[in-house]
Amino acid sequence: CRLVVLVSGSGTNLQALLDAVAAAPDGSYGAEIVAVGADRGDIAGLERAERAGLPVFVCRVRDHATRGAWDRALAEATAAYEPDLVVSAGFMKIVGREFLARFGGRFVNTHPALLPSFPGAHGVRDALAYGVKVTGCTVHFVDDGVDTGPIIAQGVVEVRDEDDESALHERIKEVERQLLVDVVGRLARNGYRIEGRKVLIP
Ligand code: GRF
Repeated sequence: CRLVVLVSGSGTNLQALLDAVAAAPDGSYGAEIVAVGADRGDIAGLERAERAGLPVFVCRVRDHATRGAWDRALAEATAAYEPDLVVSAGFMKIVGREFLARFGGRFVNTHPALLPSFPGAHGVRDALAYGVKVTGCTVHFVDDGVDTGPIIAQGVVEVRDEDDESALHERIKEVERQLLVDVVGRLARNGYRIEGRKVLIP
């Protein structure tokens, strides 16, 4: 199973996938990362990819005349690597119609809250501000809404009284990395079906 991973930041979720692939040189993880894409240069996520010897591509919104043109360029750059699955691992842009037309049903995102609560770019901050006692992370397929696609798996994290956004996010990310590695491996090895909102992995 060929994976393209998209990142915008530190890339620790990407690193967890890289480590899972590297830990199984016999290919038993079931997936290989064939390229890493980003919407900006100069991020630790791209350095991690380069250190692993992977091809990288950068597709910046500001280098394109319209958002639609950016979306098309991102879809084409991704498609060039012929992925079976695309993973958004902290990729902080909403993709458009063209990208979804090509990769809908095989585009996986990870979100640092228990969807459908606290979607959007500030899931951790919003959960903390609301005062929830448990939160966590959600790995889901991407559809045309913001963090609304069919849920594949979730992990739970307790909120502590002394938590601030960054402490809570760090604990969520520990769970999130494991969950993402587990989910991607299972999708890759077993295949899956999406029936309505249900994701079935045999
Ligand atoms: C993750 O918590 C992801 O869900 C969120 O941003 C974080 C990315 O972290 N949207 P990293 O770049 O993988 O370290």
